[in-house]
Amino acid sequence: MILLGLNIDHGATVRQARYREAPSTVGGAVEPDPVALALLGERAGADGITVHLREDRRHIQERDVWRLREGISTRLNLEMACNPEMTAFALKLKPDTVCLVPENRDEISTEGGLDVVGNRKRVSRCIDAMKGAGIQTSLFIDPDEDQIELGAKLGAPIVELHTGAYANAYYGGGRAKEFQRLRLGCVRAHELGYVVNAGHGINYVNVAELRTLPHVHEMNIGHSIVSRALFTGIEEAVRELKVRMNGN
Ligand code: PXP
Repeated sequence: MILLGLNIDHGATVRQARYREAPSTVGGAVEPDPVALALLGERAGADGITVHLREDRRHIQERDVWRLREGISTRLNLEMACNPEMTAFALKLKPDTVCLVPENRDEISTEGGLDVVGNRKRVSRCIDAMKGAGIQTSLFIDPDEDQIELGAKLGAPIVELHTGAYANAYYGGGRAKEFQRLRLGCVRAHELGYVVNAGHGINYVNVAELRTLPHVHEMNIGHSIVSRALFTGIEEAVRELKVRMNGN
């Protein structure tokens, strides 16, 4: 069974669109509360909650992350840039996992994942710091053999393969080629002993093919679920995605 990591960043995007300047992230007229979305999502079957605390704080705020740490009953996956400030934050917060993602142009590899090869020292330092605190590190990388192999060598226990190029190619040319890249990436990552996750651009349609990738443990999905939730509510949106991920 493939697990669902529910990414609630875009619940916070809607709040920030109106309440960026508000003194609090919750209470009074401030809405919607992304933490409430997470709790309802868990109730509907989400297996973990994911947030990206970006340097520009465009959606999730620090206070959201602390409230999630105290409030959720599944796992907290903190997506973050690989820098000293975020490393210090994660060591205080103690999420279950951190997922290292690129935020600067320099850290991005060809397709958009973290360039582990080009940032070897920084990535290695971060993985070691997390290991010391009992936090597992996931690397958000393209299905590229060099990146996958180096990440394993540096001791990352989890890889999240970037499905964005596949999602972008879905209705155009290149879908079969991108799927094959992902398939080979999953196989190689599994051979190297990683827990294999997938994420970015996964939706209610393309999940039908993505679920056939080998060895995938968890999918991290945000935009599509939050979009559907506008019509159905978050619980129904989570339930339906889980059926499409694992049902017949
Ligand atoms: N995984 C990672 C590492 C991400 O940064 C994101 C958000 O961009 C997602 C998954 C979720 O992507 P989406 O919102 O397209 O489902």
